[in-house]
Amino acid sequence: MRVIIRKTYEEMSKEAALLIKDRMMKKKDIVLGLATGSTPLGLYKELIRMHKEEGLSFKNVKTFNLDEYYGLEPTHPQSYRYFMDTNLFNHIDIEKSNTYVPDGKAEDVEKYCQWYEEQIKKAGGIDLQVLGIGRDGHIGFNEPGSSFYSRTRLVALDEQTIKDNSRFFKSIDEVPRFAITMGVGTILEAKEIILLANGKNKAKPVAQFIEGPITSLVPATALQLHPKVTVFLDEEAASELKRIDYYKFTENSSKQLKKEIWL
Ligand code: GLP
Repeated sequence: MRVIIRKTYEEMSKEAALLIKDRMMKKKDIVLGLATGSTPLGLYKELIRMHKEEGLSFKNVKTFNLDEYYGLEPTHPQSYRYFMDTNLFNHIDIEKSNTYVPDGKAEDVEKYCQWYEEQIKKAGGIDLQVLGIGRDGHIGFNEPGSSFYSRTRLVALDEQTIKDNSRFFKSIDEVPRFAITMGVGTILEAKEIILLANGKNKAKPVAQFIEGPITSLVPATALQLHPKVTVFLDEEAASELKRIDYYKFTENSSKQLKKEIWL
């Protein structure tokens, strides 16, 4: 794991965008795993800027989103499909047919989830997965207790997640209670992962997943089992970490040696 800490949300987002750009330059037909939520908005804004001002092209890129609310039409303003279209896809040169977001209206959910997994495999697997983290340590919609071997499936949302996500809906009663999400096992199969977190209310889950014991009660701790994870944090989200000096030393050494150093 590598931990990159920046003073502000903007700097953190730009740093993460630079990593994505670097990987896109190395592989033009990269397969990206994408996340929703307020955290990656700065990153998407920066990717859009890179597309418009620096010619960064998404023509041959495929994307798979982590999750979707179960029961929401793709046209619903709070659906993750709508989120991705309005916050990223509509502003870059990606082929819409190359963008996959789980279908919240899938009738045979089990079959659909299998199909989604097959599409990821057919694309050659996810090269780079983008993640945020929930206040209870969830990734995607894998709530505490999720199996580390779990695959794309229908899940029930935790009280905490429903409360946290109610800020996007008119009232808490409108927040869907279920979702389709890639599993922890699906996420761990990505060749590389980046996780972004900002703000004081992420400090605890961040410290838990980077430095705490591995437990399904904090699903993000599963990332300790992956060899290539970069965590991008602002100072507030990093505030409860114990080994900040070491992470900074590693990053500086990496720059001096011009080589990526992984913990
Ligand atoms: C949702 C999403 C997660 C996201 C989390 C944090 O529950 N399913 O993928 O990481 O919220 O959201 P935010 O970035 O808004 O704090």
